[in-house]
Amino acid sequence: LDNGLARTPPMGWLDWERFRCNVDCVNDPDNCISEKLFMQMADIIVAEGYKDVGYEYVCIDDCWLAESRDEHGRLMADPERFPSGIKALADYMHTRGLKLGIYEDFGQTTCDKYPGSEFFLQQDAQTFADWGVDLLKLDACNLNAADNDYGFPIMSFYLNQTGRPILFSCDWAVYQYYDNMSIDYAAVAKYCNIWRNYHDMQDSWDSVMNTVEYFGTNQGGFQQHVGPGSFSDPDMLIVGDFGLSYDQQRVHMGMWAMLAAPLIMSNDLRHIDPKSKALLQNRRVLAINQDPLGHPATRVTPQGFNSQTLSLWTKPLIKPQGSFAVAIVNKDIQGTPTRFSIRLADLNLSNNSGYNLTEVFDGLAMGVYSISKPINISVNPTGIVLFQAVPV
Ligand code: GLA
Repeated sequence: LDNGLARTPPMGWLDWERFRCNVDCVNDPDNCISEKLFMQMADIIVAEGYKDVGYEYVCIDDCWLAESRDEHGRLMADPERFPSGIKALADYMHTRGLKLGIYEDFGQTTCDKYPGSEFFLQQDAQTFADWGVDLLKLDACNLNAADNDYGFPIMSFYLNQTGRPILFSCDWAVYQYYDNMSIDYAAVAKYCNIWRNYHDMQDSWDSVMNTVEYFGTNQGGFQQHVGPGSFSDPDMLIVGDFGLSYDQQRVHMGMWAMLAAPLIMSNDLRHIDPKSKALLQNRRVLAINQDPLGHPATRVTPQGFNSQTLSLWTKPLIKPQGSFAVAIVNKDIQGTPTRFSIRLADLNLSNNSGYNLTEVFDGLAMGVYSISKPINISVNPTGIVLFQAVPV
């Protein structure tokens, strides 16, 4: 979507994966969906370095709404859980240099049965703009998925008409994927800044790897529509949650960087392992994600490598010109690292004078390699090796 937003993948935080539709503020006041939760996360994003490395959008997902609209048909936040209202929450973010994201659904109700935007699209776009909202995630539960092809363009138009820059996050393609429909990705990319087209992330390694491999398979050719202004969204980052080992968190973070994915954390920043936090704030990994070329990685399948166990990826970068990020993910669960050698030529890198390689997570120099010189790799079970290759 050419609206000046998301020129690189947007970064932020969203409650859904970690906090779901917990509306029980009586018994679980610290974890329920309330303005307090978003204010606390915003405070930590500012105080603990997340904002400094680029995390910016603090986003509300489903279950923020009151059970009905007000007497003028306007959306209302739940008055118990958001007593100050959404405008005050947007102001709270803006005074801290952050942005506020919100959620609605193009159907009659949201996935969790709160009032949807059907018949109210224009009014709701205006309400969000009046409140100072900076991002809208529009879902498409409780609808015929074919209707997404007109609903999302209409909402994109109404958001634009408000005159307020509102990043548009679309759950358009994902429902068409669920229904086995063919998807008009050119249209999705034209009307949306970020767009989901695969399952919701859950707190597991399977969820990470199924998503990564789906993006490698690139069913329907969606990756060609990814670039500045419009990024495909493999869903939230679950780094720092319960389900992944440290190596698996590195795979998750490294591959979301490779895929030029939005980096929207869904975790509890109040209680997070320092290693997870460092991973989320690793500037070298983030630079690969935020490279201005905005090109997603493609999976490569060199001869002689077992794609059942190894998943190899290259991502062209513009900083510096002509360089690449290379990721090698080991899917094997045998309890010992897998060792092998590979040549840059196997990965289709072609600069004849070779490349200077740097390991990305720790920033360690690996040396200069011609494209035919074997690189010895050791990659942990369910782990990743990630390096940057700069032409010499
Ligand atoms: C759908 C979306 C999720 C989340 C929930 C909320 O499942 O894909 O990301 O927004 O709805 O109910």
